[in-house]
Amino acid sequence: MTKVTVIMTSYNKAAYVGRSIEAVLQQTLSDLELFIMDDGSNEETLTAIEPYLKDPRVHFIQSGVNTLQERTTKTRYAVLINQALEQAKGEYISYATDDNVYAPDRLKKLTGYLDARPDENIVYSGSKIIYLNSKKDPVKETIRPAQTVQWNAPCAIDHCSVVHRLSILKKIHAEFGSYWDESPHFYRIGDARFFFRLNHFYPFYPYDEVLDTNYITEQSIHYQLAEEEKSDFIKALPPQSTCRELRYLLKQRQGR
Ligand code: TYD
Ligand code: MG
Repeated sequence: MTKVTVIMTSYNKAAYVGRSIEAVLQQTLSDLELFIMDDGSNEETLTAIEPYLKDPRVHFIQSGVNTLQERTTKTRYAVLINQALEQAKGEYISYATDDNVYAPDRLKKLTGYLDARPDENIVYSGSKIIYLNSKKDPVKETIRPAQTVQWNAPCAIDHCSVVHRLSILKKIHAEFGSYWDESPHFYRIGDARFFFRLNHFYPFYPYDEVLDTNYITEQSIHYQLAEEEKSDFIKALPPQSTCRELRYLLKQRQGR
């Protein structure tokens, strides 16, 4: 069995995706497979990805999506992640995006943590977030720490900071009919929606070290949402569910 399956979603981040892939392939834990799930990126991005396809650990899957209509009827990264999960062979699952950079020891540390704790199923680490302007200069930096056991992970943790056992997915599918929710109402907070599902059964355990860096770029969904002049992509999305709704529902369920 492979130790870790890393699932990276990719769409038009030519300037960043190479560094994200490299950070996965150069992990000190080398027993991994990497699914690069590309959602119809431009040539420039495909050229940036190409050199890494030689590595036998990489599976490159292209969705063929190209219209705005196709891009907005489902939360695309949820669709891509679900496809990869169907084929995953790793004992552990780790998520990555084309604008996130793993620290070199990330997978060794987080899988080592779970190896030593058979009763725990999900671990998360601290994360650094860097906001970039249109010239790619950093304009703001924040840290998301990992210090508490989380029974309410939506919007408190990013999916690039999490590692979970493959074995927990069966229960999620049985309860909800899929792994990640593909509804377009969760485009803004797809990972929060997945964590909402996980938190029905499992808490997230903290690993108190910053082990990834997340770049908010001009192309990012969150950047586009914050812009005053909304892009065609944002205009085509249905109303978005909020962090508050998910967090409130979980609290109610847990009687808090
Ligand atoms: P990203 O733009 O980085 O948004 P955020 O502001 O949440 O960081 O998008 C998140 C991931 O979704 C990224 O890896 C690319 C992927 N994605 C697709 O696969 N298809 C799409 O149509 C879009 C817009 C994004
Ligand atoms: Mg992003």
